[in-house]
Amino acid sequence: MSLIITPLAAVIGAEIEGIDIVSGVDDKALARIRSALIEYQVVFFRDQKLSLDGLEEFSARLGPLLRVPYVEPVDGHQNVIAVLKEADEAQISIFGGEWHSDFSYLESPPSLTVLYAEDVPDGRGDTLWTNMYAAYEGLSDGFRRKLDRMRAMHSGHIYGAKRPRPTRLKTSQSMKIRRGNPEADEERSHPVVRVHPESGRRALFINPIYTTRFEGMGENESSPLLDTLYAEATRPEYTCRFEWRDGSVAVWDNRCTMHIAINDYDGFRRLLYRTTVGAERPVGLHENE
Ligand SMILES: [Fe+2]
Repeated sequence: MSLIITPLAAVIGAEIEGIDIVSGVDDKALARIRSALIEYQVVFFRDQKLSLDGLEEFSARLGPLLRVPYVEPVDGHQNVIAVLKEADEAQISIFGGEWHSDFSYLESPPSLTVLYAEDVPDGRGDTLWTNMYAAYEGLSDGFRRKLDRMRAMHSGHIYGAKRPRPTRLKTSQSMKIRRGNPEADEERSHPVVRVHPESGRRALFINPIYTTRFEGMGENESSPLLDTLYAEATRPEYTCRFEWRDGSVAVWDNRCTMHIAINDYDGFRRLLYRTTVGAERPVGLHENE
């Protein structure tokens, strides 16, 4: 077996060919996938045929599965959620339709996410990822030194409500989203700059969906600086874009990326299955001083 790893863009994303991720992942292949994840932050596999059991098994090879609050799991698969929009659900917002890092509001957010495309429209519903190391490294020294010492608050409560939308723009009814979950609604503090435990690199760890404000500051006071950082973090040169096909799999590192799903597929059914792996409290630079 020879794995072929091809970068997709300048600073993020790579496609891995030459492996069946259900039957073909021996220890050596697993080590290569892990090192590609560290190097490229998000990796993609094409033409996989996964049952939900297979998706859970592959995900569990990468780390302990994490059951997340906020979305009901698939019947019989407590670790899998369905990311679904039906063809007749037009003109709605979608799950993940703004830049974010998955469930960053948890005390220990998921390290990795695995997403498998079961039934997706051709050429629509792409996902973009952005490299939050590059976002941090692109800032001036003075700005980085300030951010190194700051913390920000995250909450699941604001999802879809931060910028109220017209009624017709509700989130897809096919998503089994639970409201009022205390674990999701609590505001939690994380460092703005996070040190990745494996690469040792520093990454911005804020996002427009779940970050409410800086710790010790109000929302209105925080917004201008947060918006400046989001504009920097989503510069096209820091991103990659992936076109899903049935059988595509993406694995990404939530500790050093954000992602966004593009809502351009009204009239088409789109179904993916998702697991989350690992749970780590984000660690900043000055926590041990
Ligand atoms: Fe997401």
